[in-house]
Amino acid sequence: MKETVSRAPTRSYDGLDRPVILIPKGSKEAQMGKADLDWANLPFGYHKTDRHIRYTWRNGAWDEGQITADETIPIHIAATCLHYGQECFEGLKVFETKAGDAVVFRIEENARRMADSCCKILMQPVSEEMFIEAVLRVVNENRRYIPPHGTGASLYIRPLVIGTGPQVGVKPAEEYMFLVFVTPVGPYFKTGFKPVHLIVEEEVDRAAPLGVGDVKVGGNYAAGMRASVRARASGYTEVLYLDAREKRYIDESGPANFFGITKAGVYVTPDSESILPSITNKSLITLAEELGLHPERRPVAVEEIFDFQEAGCCGTAAVITPVGSITFRDRKAVYCEGDAAGKYCTDLYNRLTSIQTGDAPDIYGWVRRIAD
Ligand code: PLP
Ligand code: COI
Repeated sequence: MKETVSRAPTRSYDGLDRPVILIPKGSKEAQMGKADLDWANLPFGYHKTDRHIRYTWRNGAWDEGQITADETIPIHIAATCLHYGQECFEGLKVFETKAGDAVVFRIEENARRMADSCCKILMQPVSEEMFIEAVLRVVNENRRYIPPHGTGASLYIRPLVIGTGPQVGVKPAEEYMFLVFVTPVGPYFKTGFKPVHLIVEEEVDRAAPLGVGDVKVGGNYAAGMRASVRARASGYTEVLYLDAREKRYIDESGPANFFGITKAGVYVTPDSESILPSITNKSLITLAEELGLHPERRPVAVEEIFDFQEAGCCGTAAVITPVGSITFRDRKAVYCEGDAAGKYCTDLYNRLTSIQTGDAPDIYGWVRRIAD
């Protein structure tokens, strides 16, 4: 796509006195169709799109939100997000249906979780209405980046709230920014729907029981990076964290929740106060029942990994990623032969992704069409 500054209506300002090139709906550029991308081979990474949206909380109110093409934010050197970790984010996905509609999965759940994250670290929460409005606006500004139906890719939506007001003492900021950007993505684990290999992490805690592991704040991910990087350097895909209090129970993986399928046909997933309440996992609990599996959310002792017939990681980015093996000290639980995923993980994956892409009826009301 060529952007041009020659026509007045295509030019706007982003509030920072920088010209922004807008492509009006119905213009030639807007009708040019999809962006020229290798949709079937997208990584899970940042790809520049046309615009994002940002709202500012100042003097006790959110503004109307601004659409901008600028990928940078000028920020106060004493902003609380930089020093004291006042930051939280979300992740959700938009898919294209066979009919060419854009649909988003369980957006209200992400909106509520982001409000919980904001409240837990004393940031100004974003209302459900504003969250949804922001996502719909930004998706409509970037429709050409929604991966075509059938490619397996999706448009990943990344909302975030940051404390932008200055503080040097440890206290909440008085100003906040809420941003939503989008990026077309492929699978989180680059092998896609292929078994990954986990190692039980015993030397690093991701989150404390009475801490912030149950919300989606950036610091949780920084806390886990040294464990993930070390695991990858040792040939594993990711780590499986244990509860920080007793080191007896499984918590979750770095970027996703964890579930096991017992030999008795139970879909078991950890109940823990230090893991993120995954929207994907909540959906899989419903779908597991369709398969005749009995769902259980309870503390899962690490030794139980040796009794599972299958295991998986689940999340927006990870979707359902079958676990091929879990290494615990000098023992290894193996669930998959080579690249073949188990029948339950495969069936759950197919059911979930068919609903998300509109290929299966949305009987639970999880999918919302984004009007253009
Ligand atoms: N756990 C962690 C630490 C995550 O980052 C994510 C991703 O959002 C999940 C679990 C899965 O949550 P969800 O299914 O809502 O994306
Ligand atoms: C997501 O699944 O949306 C996440 O935020 C996980 C992240 C580590 C990519």
